[in-house]
This record gives sequence, C-alpha cells and structure tokens, in this order.
Amino acid sequence: MWNERYSEPGFAFGTKPNDFLVASAPKLQPRSEVLCLGEGEGRNAVYLASLGHRVTAVDSSSVGLEKASLLARKQGVTLEIIEADLDGYLITPGSFQAIVSIFCHLPPAVQAGLHKRACEGLAPGGVFILEGYSKKQINYDTGGPRKIEMLMDLEQLKQELKPLDLSHAIHTEREIREGSYHLGTGAVVQIIGIKPG
Ligand SMILES: C[S@@+](CC[C@H](N)C(=O)[O-])C[C@H]1O[C@@H](n2cnc3c(N)ncnc32)[C@H](O)[C@@H]1O
Repeated sequence: MWNERYSEPGFAFGTKPNDFLVASAPKLQPRSEVLCLGEGEGRNAVYLASLGHRVTAVDSSSVGLEKASLLARKQGVTLEIIEADLDGYLITPGSFQAIVSIFCHLPPAVQAGLHKRACEGLAPGGVFILEGYSKKQINYDTGGPRKIEMLMDLEQLKQELKPLDLSHAIHTEREIREGSYHLGTGAVVQIIGIKPG
C-alpha cells in the first residue's frame, strides 16, 4: 500500500517537516543521535539533519525511502536509511538521544512492542516525540487510517510510554496542511517524553 502511494508524483505529506516536530525540536540536545520511526519520504528526518542532528530514518517502504534519500541529497544533508518492518524492529538500548514518531500508525500490538523498545532505546535524558491521529479522527475525512484500531488513544500511549516523564501528553484538534494526504482539521495526540536519568 505504501509503495503504491509513494509511487505517485510528488511527496504525499509534502517536503516540509511536521508542525509539532518543528515546535518540539528545541528540546533536542545539539548534534543528537535521532531515530525517526515510519519516516516515509523523509521530510522530518531531512529537517532534523538540517539542524545538525545525526538522523536514522526507518520505514518498510523502499519507494518512500528512495524519495527520502533524494530529498536529503537535494537539501545537502546525510541520512542513515534503513528499510525494515517496525514489527520486532530492534533498537539498541540506550543508543538514541531522540526518537521521533510522526503519524506512524501501526496495529496495536506492534505499536505496544515498538514503544517498549523505543523507551529502552533512548539514552538517559533522551526525548521521545510523537504526533498521530487519535481515534476521534475516524469522524473526519482529512487524513490517517480509516480503521479505528490503527488510530491512537492517549491513555494507551501513556501506558506504553510509562518509563518516560511525559512533559506534554495531550489530545487536541488542529489545522493540518501536510501534503495532499493530511489536509484539514485533524484530531491528534501529541507526546513529548523524557527518559529519566
Ligand atoms: C502516514 S506515513 C508517515 C510518514 C512520515 N512519518 C511523515 O510524517 O511524513 C506512515 C509511514 O509508516 C510506514 N509504516 C507503516 N507500517 C510500517 C511497518 N510495519 N514498518 C515500517 N514502516 C511502516 C509507512 O511505510 C509510511 O511511510
């Protein structure tokens, strides 16, 4: 499905970074080692690399990652690109100063396992940043999965991310203009979590 979508001309979610990521990026330490989960065509990874971070982008779509590589080259930055399924994806414990998850919608069991490994994968003081469509988004036709189980639930996320200090964990509605697939008022959850220590 994702290879098909990313084979369309242009960038499905645009080439500009996600608004919440831009607002949260000052939380990152300079020159952080950052992992971007489900990074697709690379807009967020390229943005973070342009700020001087060392960024690894992981996604299962080869077509999306080719575009990510192209975008990085065009903008004069380097990314570490990994084609992999996030189901069971290993994150070396303590290896990242930041982990970013933007609209990375997964089946519930896959999400729970990934978030456990993400908490372990953060170094002490590391930052976890997430924005995704909430279950309320099922009422809007402005983007995101059309299956309710693939949409996010704030209380569930708080449980999964319990090892982190959540300085920001909200459900909100906001205007989203990110490419042609995320367009209009959207119901989202947003998280910023810091690994203690
Ligand atoms: C809505 S897109 C978001 C892309 C990117 N984060 C952004 O904001 O532009 C969701 C991405 O998750 C990826 N994805 C979905 N399921 C995956 C899985 N099991 N393993 C790896 N990537 C996955 C898709 O290939 C797609 O690129």
